[in-house]
Amino acid sequence: MSTFQTLPGFREFYPGDCAVRNFIFDHFRRTAKSFAFEEYDAPIIEPMELFTAKSGDEIVSQLFNFEDRGGRQISMRPELTPSLVKMIGNRANAMKKPIKWFNIGEQFRYERPQKGRLRSFYQFNADIIGDDSPGADAEIVALAIQTLRNFALTRSDFRVRLSDRKLWAAFFESHGLDGTDTQAALVAIDKSEREGEAKTLEAVEKICPSNAGKIFEGIQRLKNVHSPRDLEKFCATCENLADAASGCAEFFALLKRMDEFGLSDFVTIDFGVVRGLAYYTGFVFEIFENSGQSRALAGGGRYDNLFGKLGYSGLPAVGFAIGDVTLGNLLGEKNLIPPLPREVRCFIVYTEQTEKIAMAKVIALRERNVDVDYCLSPTSFGKQLKAASQVGAKFAIIFGDEEVKANGVKIKNMLSGEEKPVEISKLAEVISQ
Ligand code: HAM
Repeated sequence: MSTFQTLPGFREFYPGDCAVRNFIFDHFRRTAKSFAFEEYDAPIIEPMELFTAKSGDEIVSQLFNFEDRGGRQISMRPELTPSLVKMIGNRANAMKKPIKWFNIGEQFRYERPQKGRLRSFYQFNADIIGDDSPGADAEIVALAIQTLRNFALTRSDFRVRLSDRKLWAAFFESHGLDGTDTQAALVAIDKSEREGEAKTLEAVEKICPSNAGKIFEGIQRLKNVHSPRDLEKFCATCENLADAASGCAEFFALLKRMDEFGLSDFVTIDFGVVRGLAYYTGFVFEIFENSGQSRALAGGGRYDNLFGKLGYSGLPAVGFAIGDVTLGNLLGEKNLIPPLPREVRCFIVYTEQTEKIAMAKVIALRERNVDVDYCLSPTSFGKQLKAASQVGAKFAIIFGDEEVKANGVKIKNMLSGEEKPVEISKLAEVISQ
């Protein structure tokens, strides 16, 4: 007989797995709040067009989509950014800017499941809407870094690769490429990370056969730029790129703010990063783990045109998402997930004679927000105490026949074994201390 299987790329979370997930989510939430971001949420399914409009071909090929009973084309969300734009776009006038929002939620992409890549995963998204300054860019990068540091990850565990699509766009424009060709070239550069340089050359030859050699050489040079000085030199020595140099002022301002934050050590300039998603317009970044497979932990950047492209009034925007899969793997490998044992504050131990009063106290304690467990039917003291240790109870509260007759109970500290008598009327007060 075959039993049911979980779909490929989906995870079941048994309670121990949920505890780890909550540990990770708690850190996300706490860090976002420390940066004064507000939490929001969006539907898990959206009209498919929201994603086919502007996210880019790769993500469109990975949609979990279907037609609903009303004949609507629907998709599970592969990312949150278009939903965020829709939510803010619909009410933008009434909202104070900048808007600093975060979300922790599930996303769905029909990818080939492999280490670090699943079909369902969670993301911590954080975005600033309505501020076009490098200060907003820096705040986003700083939040991403601080989130990882709060898990006790250090500079030796991960690095932020910082790049700028504006500079890439200026470079391609200086070689006569239009917007569509530039997008195609950026996709090729993004792919070359996984598929090798040859792909980039092939793509450039297709896009611009007459000038492919020169463009490819320029691409290689820009990918080798790793310091502000190199960047200035690149702009100065590249034909028609003087404008891009002034465009880079924002990029330099971002680097300066990172320096002021004392976070420069985490950041490397790396134009090999262009990002797979189509909507980025300015600086972009990805965070990579340093060890092993070196997979992306997070990615983001500035996307100033997405509001306009989705039909809303234009608003500048910048943000990122950290995924839970690669991060969870990394924390596991580095032993940074502490033991998360099941914990219950008290376990009620009772007899058939004391059941009535014990059950009344179960409810009374729970009403005071004390977590309480007990055996669902009366059984021997030995079995009840064993059950108490199995659920990780801190205290067993023993409603013995003799004690209850004298209006008392015994509180047993499950760790030390120490027992102390308490009047029933004072129990709630004592146990919630
Ligand atoms: P993204 O680079 O597509 O960006 O995803 C961000 C992170 O989500 C990745 O670095 C990775 O950790 C995780 N991730 C993506 N796909 C998978 C997968 N199939 N399995 C496991 N983890 C995955 C975005 O989604 C943008 N919307 C981020 C953003 C927010 N940009 C601006 N605001």
